[in-house]
Amino acid sequence: MLNKKIAIIGAGKMGKALIRGLVCPKNIMVSDKDKSKLKSFAGKKIKTTTCNIKAVEWGEVIILSVKPKDMDDVLKGIVSARFAGPASALKRKLFISIAAGIKTSFIEKRLGHVPVIRVMPNTPALICEGMSAISPGRFAKSRDEHIAGAIFGSVGSVMKFPERDMDAVTALSGSGPAYFFFLMEALTLAGKRMGISNKDSLALTLQTALGAALLAKKTGIPPFKLREMVTSKGGTTEAALKILGSSRVKEAIIKAVIKAKKRSVELCKN
Ligand SMILES: NC(=O)c1ccc[n+]([C@@H]2O[C@H](COP(=O)([O-])OP(=O)(O)OC[C@H]3O[C@@H](n4cnc5c(N)ncnc54)[C@H](OP(=O)(O)O)[C@@H]3O)[C@@H](O)[C@H]2O)c1
Repeated sequence: MLNKKIAIIGAGKMGKALIRGLVCPKNIMVSDKDKSKLKSFAGKKIKTTTCNIKAVEWGEVIILSVKPKDMDDVLKGIVSARFAGPASALKRKLFISIAAGIKTSFIEKRLGHVPVIRVMPNTPALICEGMSAISPGRFAKSRDEHIAGAIFGSVGSVMKFPERDMDAVTALSGSGPAYFFFLMEALTLAGKRMGISNKDSLALTLQTALGAALLAKKTGIPPFKLREMVTSKGGTTEAALKILGSSRVKEAIIKAVIKAKKRSVELCKN
């Protein structure tokens, strides 16, 4: 078990998801400028504060879980507070950022030569089924990667990538849950249009999505082969896939994900 004091700045959706996965509440402090966001931690042994500096002073690992637009202010706040310990105290802390588009160099430039790891998690982390990509900055050591791996491993799977791949990762697995939810919406609507109730249509869709994902994962059979296994000549699936093919749905999905990557590049802050 990871025996580190973890301070989380930003008690939003992702911050809360991480806290849920971390097993030792007395090793967690969460900071948010909005006091009302901290209420849900009452009585859970988790320390709370509205002062980011206090959280940074206390924590050995600092998880920056604010929106990209707020990151500059948070980092400026940490630096301008003339950190209570000696300057080297900041360097002994590990900074983990989960903000989309914020490069490790952006944080290093503001905080100095501190170890930074950039992570792109996704929302299934809320139920410990997340996919997190981790990418170390210039001053991060392998023990820092190990710590980040342990933290994000507690809410799902972890893979390491060079930072140049993080925009593609953001487009694929960071935004990815939304693509699957979109497909689920469409399937549920199709069920409804064919006369099945919304509730039953959703139940059929969800179990089919779960079963398909688990079948692909557990067997290791590539998705195209699994698709072929469902598709018999002249059958119902073939009829459906013909429509998807002629509507160029696969190309549209690829185009959409590439567009998400471009947007991530545009949002990128050095
Ligand atoms: N949600 C996702 O699917 C997802 C996936 C991967 C990565 N991420 C990344 O995760 C980060 C957090 O996302 P989220 O969805 O959890 O956002 P969120 O729900 O908006 O949470 C961010 C929290 O930080 C607070 N905050 C803002 N400025 C602050 C400051 N100066 N000091 C302390 N707290 C401050 C916000 O308060 P206010 O609301 O009052 O501003 C809010 O409570 C983002 O950078 C995002 O790119 C999100």
